[in-house]
Amino acid sequence: MSNENGMGPGQIVKVLIGIVVFLVVAITLLAKLATSGFNVDAEVMTNESVAARLKPVGDSVAADAPPGSRTGEQVFQAVCITCHGNGLLGSPKFGDAAAWGPRIAKGFATLVQHALSGFNAMPARGGNATLTDSEVARAVAYMANAGGAKFAAPQADASGASATSASAPAAAAAALDPNVVGKKIYESVCVACHQAGVSGAPKFGDKAAWAVRLKPGLDEVQKIATKGLNAMPPKGGYSGSDAEFRAAIEYMVNNSK
Ligand code: HEC
Ligand code: HEC
Repeated sequence: MSNENGMGPGQIVKVLIGIVVFLVVAITLLAKLATSGFNVDAEVMTNESVAARLKPVGDSVAADAPPGSRTGEQVFQAVCITCHGNGLLGSPKFGDAAAWGPRIAKGFATLVQHALSGFNAMPARGGNATLTDSEVARAVAYMANAGGAKFAAPQADASGASATSASAPAAAAAALDPNVVGKKIYESVCVACHQAGVSGAPKFGDKAAWAVRLKPGLDEVQKIATKGLNAMPPKGGYSGSDAEFRAAIEYMVNNSK
């Protein structure tokens, strides 16, 4: 009679066993979840996963956003995160104020210059040549600010005349000696066409040819040459920073006056 509506002692024991079994299963599952979480971290450092993480370097970034317009965060997410996301190769890790402190102390211009030209295991432009100077600068500001800095990121790109004078790369340009940096680039890249005047290139040392080119001013000439002009490829095919390219132009121009 008593077993018809309520539970007898046998059923209570069964329910208790059920609860215990459920708890054991749940705890086992949770434990598995936690350990597999750690396994993912451990796998991060295997050769294959490191290679896979390095792979996107050099691929095009945020294809939907036109070059020059990408924000610091977009550039970080697409390129820099490969190493700076977890401190790969000894890079200062994103958000790690202790790691970024001594970097930030170098000043924004130096950090941007190092990010543009490369610095030890840090590849130039994080290994992605499609990044413009101001995009790299914005990514530097984004990362450094997450590590405790208060850098103002350059907004407009160098293709807009407004940004060139204010941005850090332009400030760094002043420090690049045309007779050292510019000469080296000229002799390795520009010489191919500008030495002999291939395809109508203004010849090195040809005052008359250069005087015509220089009428709109050096900044304008740099803009034209950066974009490319007929047989002149963008930046003359040079893949380094705008500041370095400027030094190469100045080297040619200074020797053609
Ligand atoms: C392939 C790995 C890798 C990628 C990708 C990478 N970095 Fe780095 N980065 C490093 C390493 C390693 C260092 C530390 C170099 C050192 O101090 O010897 C570093 C250091 C830096 C520094 C500090 C330089 C200094 O003077 O202390 C800046 C700034 C920086 N990276 C910016 C960037 C930006 C911006 C990007 C993305 C556009 C990027 N990095 C992508 C590896 C990388
Ligand atoms: C493949 C050949 C080639 C290479 C390499 C090359 N140039 Fe040129 N460059 C030209 C040609 C051709 C012109 C003239 C284009 C025209 O007016 O149609 C030119 C024009 C220029 C001009 C004048 C732009 C203007 O406003 O009229 C500058 C500045 C310049 N180049 C800089 C450089 C620099 C700096 C390098 C090396 C980093 C370089 N070029 C490499 C072919 C080249």
